[in-house]
Order: sequence, then C-alpha cells, then structure tokens
Amino acid sequence: MLKAAQRLGLGVVIITVLSLLYFILMTQSAVKLIHPREELHNCCSTQDDFILTQKNTKIGMTIRYAITKGKTFKVNSALTRLLPKTSPLSGRRFSRCSVVGNGAILSQSGCGQEIDKADYVFRCNLPPIGGKYAENTGIRTNSTTANPISQIMSKYKGLRNQQGRDKFMTDIKKYPGLLWVSAFGVKSATVISQQALKFVTQKRIRSPALVFGNPKHFTDTMNFWRAHNLSNRLSTGMYLSSIALSVCDQVHIFGFWPFDKDPEDQPLAYHYYGKGKVDQVHDMPQEFLKLLEWHQEGVVNVHIHKCQADS
Ligand SMILES: *[C@@H]1O[C@H](CO)[C@@H](O)[C@H](O)[C@H]1NC(C)=O
Ligand SMILES: *[C@@H]1O[C@H](CO)[C@@H](O)[C@H](O)[C@H]1NC(C)=O
Repeated sequence: MLKAAQRLGLGVVIITVLSLLYFILMTQSAVKLIHPREELHNCCSTQDDFILTQKNTKIGMTIRYAITKGKTFKVNSALTRLLPKTSPLSGRRFSRCSVVGNGAILSQSGCGQEIDKADYVFRCNLPPIGGKYAENTGIRTNSTTANPISQIMSKYKGLRNQQGRDKFMTDIKKYPGLLWVSAFGVKSATVISQQALKFVTQKRIRSPALVFGNPKHFTDTMNFWRAHNLSNRLSTGMYLSSIALSVCDQVHIFGFWPFDKDPEDQPLAYHYYGKGKVDQVHDMPQEFLKLLEWHQEGVVNVHIHKCQADS
C-alpha cells in the first residue's frame, strides 16, 4: 500500500518536472518568435529617427552616406538651422496606414477609396495623384518621397531658374504633410537637397514640410532586412513599408507588383502613370515575396486585386 503511494508520489514529481520543462521550452520558443513589428521597433527607433532633426543631428557630428560608400558629411550650422527641432512622428501611432507603390497593378484597381481610408498615407517619389488617377490611387497623402536627383535635379532644373522654382513650388503643394528627400543617400544629392530645403524655408512653405531622410535609419532598416535575407539595396517602397510597420497597427500595401504580367497573366506596364524602366539596383521580386510571406502571417495586408466599391 505504502509502495503504491510512494510510486504515486514519484509519478507526481516526474509529471511536475516534465510540465515545468515543457513550459520552459514553450516560453523560450515564444520568446524567439518576436513579432517583426517589435523587431523593427527595437532596431530602428523609427518615430524619432526616420528623418534628420536638431535632436539627432548635432553640429560637428559625422553623417555617413547610406549608399555612397565611405563618404561622410560633417554637420554644420547651415544644415541644423534647416532641420525641424524634433520628429513629427515622435510618440505618434496610427491605427491604419496605406503604403502606395507606383506599380501599374493599381491602374483600373478602383482602390482609391480603400487607400484613402487610412489615417496616414505614404507615397513614393512625387507620383501623380488626384484627377483621373483618383479612382484607382486615391487623393490623400501624408508622407511623400522625392528623389533629389531624378526629380528635383532633372524635372525642376536643379531649381536654378525661376521657371524650375515656380514649377517646383506649384507641384509640391499637391503633397501635403511631409516631403521627404534623401539628402544623404548618395553624395551628389546633398547640395541640391539643401538648396531645395532652403528654398521652401525662404518661401515659408509649410505644407508640405520638406524633411531629410536619416541615412543611419535607412542603414539600420536595411540591416534589419538583411537579417531577413533581403541582401540588395532596399527600395523606397520597402523602406516605407518598414516605417509603416513601426508606426501603424494595420499596414495596407498597394501598388506593389514587380512583374510584367498581372495576376490574370495579362501584360502590365511598369508604373500606373507611364512606362518607366525596370529597376536593376533593387530586388523588387524578392522584396515582394517577403511582403507576401508577412501577408500570410497577418503582419501586413498586400492588396493586388481590384477593390470592391464601398456600398
Ligand atoms: C493625412 O493627410 C490628410 C490629407 O491628405 C489629412 O486630412 C490628415 O489629417 C493627415 N493625417 C495626419 C495624421 O497627419
Ligand atoms: C535565410 O536563408 C537561409 C538559407 O536559405 C535560411 O536557412 C534562413 O532560415 C533564412 N532566414 C530567414 C530569417 O528567413
């Protein structure tokens, strides 16, 4: 009788130890499965540091270019004077965001309303919005990137003559919120970017607010993706998606489809507003597959089909 009781006691001890072990193993694997959002948050302090501010950019500091290797820029007062005191996203969080790429998959998508439902809309490289594009791509924007070389330098003649400056001033007013220029990606972008910022400051243009991307934040984000097996230079769209993941509860992605046939196997142009050319620097298909993987896991919503009209 006693023996049976002892055996029972031993059994209880063994079961307790086993369940403890099981519990420890489970919690450890749960710890390993950090949400990508948390990971991004931990790596890059996006809210505070996605752009250069007087808080993160001090006179005398050295800025490393994100793309031109080995080149640096010594921060001077001419630069810091032009920067905002703090980041406009500091301490902010949005419940729903749209990240809008410029892919031709948006043509005839009818996704304009769906895109505009967001609290915060990110767009790439001064795309045409509104007018005949409104139905498919929406009209709202809160943060728009502008490439200093392919846009400001080429389309607006480097702001050297009145005509270029006037056109720039008229055009950027279509993009309220932040106009985001990567002044420290490549070295050749810095002077023109500073001229553009000086210009909008002199003209007292408040909307959009022209801001400089932070190359350190870009590099940190790129390293994050490298750890997730994306080794090429990050595209603007992927970069904006990463920022959205850090500041928004729900991330809806539109206009990303880096293939020359649509999902129904019909030929597709490159941009929704014109031909454009195939990108050699980035690896869009690989980035896209990563986003689809996250779509499967419920981390982001990638929209590739036509949107239903709101009833
Ligand atoms: C986003 O932009 C829209 C207009 O495009 C504006 O009404 C809205 O207040 C902006 N949202 C934020 C959070 O700045
Ligand atoms: C990266 O790729 C390697 C080899 O293909 C694979 O073993 C690893 O699990 C991948 N890592 C991630 C985070 O996807």
